[in-house]
Amino acid sequence: MLWGGRFKGKLDDSALKFSSSLGFDINLIDEDITVSRVHAEMLFKVGLITEDEYKKIDAGLIQIQTEYREGLWKPEASKHEDIHSAIEYRLSELIGEATGKLHTGRSRNDQVATGMRLWIKNVLNTVTEELIILQQILLKVSEKHIETLIPGYTHLQRAQPVSLSHHFLAYVEMVERDKKRIEFVGNEADQSPLGSGALAGSTLPLDSFFTSDKFGFSSPCRNSLDAVSDRDFILDSLNCCSIGMMHLSRLAEELILWSTEEWKFIKLSDEFTTGSSLMPQKKNPDLAELIRGKTGRVFANQFALLTSLKALPLSYNRDMQEDKEPVFDSFDTYINSIKIASQMIATMSINKSRFEKELENGFILATDLADWLVLKGIPFREAHNIVGRLVTYCEEKNITFKDVGINDLKLIHEIFTEDALNCFDIKSSLKRKLTFGSPNPELVEKQINKWIEKLG
Ligand code: ARG
Repeated sequence: MLWGGRFKGKLDDSALKFSSSLGFDINLIDEDITVSRVHAEMLFKVGLITEDEYKKIDAGLIQIQTEYREGLWKPEASKHEDIHSAIEYRLSELIGEATGKLHTGRSRNDQVATGMRLWIKNVLNTVTEELIILQQILLKVSEKHIETLIPGYTHLQRAQPVSLSHHFLAYVEMVERDKKRIEFVGNEADQSPLGSGALAGSTLPLDSFFTSDKFGFSSPCRNSLDAVSDRDFILDSLNCCSIGMMHLSRLAEELILWSTEEWKFIKLSDEFTTGSSLMPQKKNPDLAELIRGKTGRVFANQFALLTSLKALPLSYNRDMQEDKEPVFDSFDTYINSIKIASQMIATMSINKSRFEKELENGFILATDLADWLVLKGIPFREAHNIVGRLVTYCEEKNITFKDVGINDLKLIHEIFTEDALNCFDIKSSLKRKLTFGSPNPELVEKQINKWIEKLG
C-alpha cells in the first residue's frame, strides 16, 4: 500500500478493479524500471541513500525485470493499482526495507510522465524503421515501373496518364511527411519530468539534470506543473498514428480496387489474401480492408484522449491514466498495419501492360491536345473548348482519339496540322511532360535515385 498512514479502511475491491491500470500499463514495465534505476542512482549520488541501499534497489529492480521476462513474476490487477505500485510491492518482497527509500522525492505523477515519454521515444523509433522499410519496398517496385502506364484519376474518373512509379512515389512522399511528423513529436517528448514530484518539485536536493541526461533527454522539464500534466506529446503521437493510418488506408483502398475483376491491375499474393467460406472462386483482400477498417479506431483513440483532457485543471488528474489504452492500441495497430502494407506490396504481382491499349482508346490525352493549341497561341479557355468539341464529335461518331485523322481535326478547327496527332501517342505521353514533379520517366528516375541515396 502506497499511502497507508492516512487511511483506516482499504480500497474496495470493486474500486480497485475499476481504477487499476495494471492490465495495460504493464506495457511500461521496462520504462518504469529504467526510471526507478536512474532515480535510485541519482538519490545515491546526491547522498539521499547509501551505496548499499542503492545496490540493493538496483539489483532488485533488475531481478524484477528478469522475473517478468521469464514469466516468473506476473503482477495481478486485482492486487495493484498500476505497474508502479506492483513493482514497488515486488521490490519490498525482494529487498525489504530499502524499498521505502526508492520513492524519495518523487511521485507517481512525475514517474509515469517520465515513463510515458521514454516509451513514446522508443516506439517512435520503431515506427520510423518500419516506415523506411515501406518506402524502400515502394521504391523497389517503382524502379521497375517507370514506364508502366496507368490512368491518373481525379474524382475517380480517368484524368491523365501517369506511371505506377509516379503513383508510388506519391506514397513515398506521404510516408516521408509521416516520418517528419514523428521527428517533431520525438522532440516534443524530449524533456524529463522526473524531479517535478507530484506537481511542485521538491525540498530535497534532487539532481534532475543528472536523471534527464541518463535517460537521454535534452533537459529536465522547465515547469513542474506542466511536467506532470502535459500529455501533448501523446496527443501528437496519436495524431502521427492517425495521419499515418489515413495514408495506409488510402493505399489499402487502391490495392483493393486494383485487385478487382474490374481493374485487373494487380494480384495480391496468397499469403496476404483470404478465401470465402462459401464461394470457392473468391480471393479477398481482407488484410487491406482491415488496414482501412482499423483506421477508424486509431482516429477515435486520438479523439478519446483529447476529450479526456479537455477540462482538466492543472496539474495531474487521474483522468490522465486514460492516455494509455489509446496510445498502446494506436501504435500497435499502426506498426502492424505498416508491416502488412509493406508485405502486401512486396508480394503482389503487377499486370504491367494492363492499361496501354485501353488508354490509347480513350480521351485521356485531351489536355495534351489543348496544350498543343496553347503553343499555337490559342487562349487556354478556347483551346479547352475546341478539344471539348472534338471529344463530343468523336462520341457522336463512336470513335476515339486513336481513330482521329487530320481531316477530323480540321473540321473542328483550321489551326490543326498533322503534328497535332502526335499528342495522341500514349507511349510518348509521359516523356512529353516538362514540369518538375511530373511523371516524366527521366524525372521520375532522378527522384527514385535521390530517394535511394537518402534511404539506402
Ligand atoms: N496509473 C497512474 C496513471 O497512469 C499513475 C499515476 C497515479 N498518480 C496518482 N496520483 N494517483 O496516471
